[in-house]
Amino acid sequence: MENNLVTTAYIVASALFILSLAGLSQPETATRGNLLGILGMAIAFAATAGISQGYPIQISSIGLGVLVGVLAAARVAMTDMPEMVALLNSFVGLAAVLVGFAEYLQPSAALVGGDVTIHRVEIYVGVFIGIVTFTGSVVAVAKLRGWVPSRAVLLPARHVFTLGMLGAMTVLGAPFLTATGNDGLVILGAMTAIGAVFGIVIVMAIGGADMAVVISLLNSYSGLASAAAGFMLNNDLLIITGALVGSSGAILSYIMCKGMNRSFINVLLGGFGATATSTGKTTVEGSATSTNTGEVVDLLANAQSVVIVPGYGMAVAQAQHAVAEITRILRAQGKQVRFGIHPVAGRMPGHMNVLLAEANVPYDIVLEMDEINEDLATTDVVLVVGANDTVNPSAKHDPTSPIAGMPVMEVWGAGTVVVLKRSLSSGYAGVDNPLFFNDNTLMFFGDAKANVNGILAQLSSAAAVETKPTPVLSAA
Ligand code: TAP
Repeated sequence: MENNLVTTAYIVASALFILSLAGLSQPETATRGNLLGILGMAIAFAATAGISQGYPIQISSIGLGVLVGVLAAARVAMTDMPEMVALLNSFVGLAAVLVGFAEYLQPSAALVGGDVTIHRVEIYVGVFIGIVTFTGSVVAVAKLRGWVPSRAVLLPARHVFTLGMLGAMTVLGAPFLTATGNDGLVILGAMTAIGAVFGIVIVMAIGGADMAVVISLLNSYSGLASAAAGFMLNNDLLIITGALVGSSGAILSYIMCKGMNRSFINVLLGGFGATATSTGKTTVEGSATSTNTGEVVDLLANAQSVVIVPGYGMAVAQAQHAVAEITRILRAQGKQVRFGIHPVAGRMPGHMNVLLAEANVPYDIVLEMDEINEDLATTDVVLVVGANDTVNPSAKHDPTSPIAGMPVMEVWGAGTVVVLKRSLSSGYAGVDNPLFFNDNTLMFFGDAKANVNGILAQLSSAAAVETKPTPVLSAA
């Protein structure tokens, strides 16, 4: 393919990626943003294929990739999306490692003098970022799926250990710049092995409540790994795309850190939630008051203002459509109904917003935590649908709590709080929740979808009776 044509295609694809990101920043324009991204990727693909050789291998590998990607994306449940994102991040990291080794063994350009050293630096840094992204993301998948504990798992003297590994990797970089043949390969392999352990240790040390930040941080790393691969392969589009993913992931991580009142350094040093019980049983003293459908329907009937706080349990139960229907009925009765979204509710950034958009909840009644927290004290009824850590008062009131300092939805100030979940057990961070034992809290135990459907059925029939025309009695 003509060089000018490829350059033009890359510029168009880069512009489409930027427009795509701009579109993805608002729920109203997210679909358009997604389509622009797909178009940009198709153009990038076609242009890159045009300048490459080895068509049979390319076509079969692309075909296989497309098949696996489409099947995986079509089958994945919404609740498993965070794991899928983490897994895809790990692939990007692994790809950067493989490109690094391939570039060392057979550089794609004939290099001389200082260019050789620069290329070696690109390989070394690219493989380092790639391997940390790979193993870190694999541990993140394991934590999200519950294969390893979600709480922080801390090694004795881990700071010394991690600093030692960082030091060793830095020191090995110097001989790698001048090594040739097998010597360079051994050094690169040693650094990769240390980097693999480094990625595992730092992500294992991160507690449940911080996992949200880590996933977006790993996403940012995957962008840096792509950019590094772009430098190694001398591919401008890969550098631009990697920089876009890297910077947007870093900005998202920063926003999440702010939302969680944590600093990057604190997150990376880990340990948040390390002392959490995570036994699945609560150790908070007190008795919880349980409620039922009829009582909740009466509470809603008498309320003027209602705030719904969704969490991961709403996603698991797939209760969003029934919740949206309840919202519609209550609003039609003239009540103020709004949603309060915690920045890390669910298991991925924007998880709750996606579910509510899917259920056609109007965007203007979906508010972020900071926008609604002050109003909760004057709200008649708060419905907590499958949320736990994000409504835990101990984050605010108990300095010894493993999640002390994390901003939460202050639902306990409302007139009545109804919590829909199946038991009194803890959430992802493994921290007990005293909210369940408050005098103004009612626990509506059971699957959120079944219980929300029950409320919906009673509200719908009451609404139907209200709107039924009164029969006109005619004089005989
Ligand atoms: P969680 O604290 O995880 O609590 C969810 C609750 O949902 C559980 O306690 C569970 O209680 C309940 N539940 C599960 N299935 C249910 C069902 N079918 N019906 C009713 N309830 C059900 O949720 P959250 O408040 O959304 O907090 C999110 C947590 O995940 C935070 O700790 C956050 O840091 C972490 N995290 C977030 C992200 C992102 S990016 N958002 C990523 C990784 C981790 P029962 O078992 O008693 O029903």
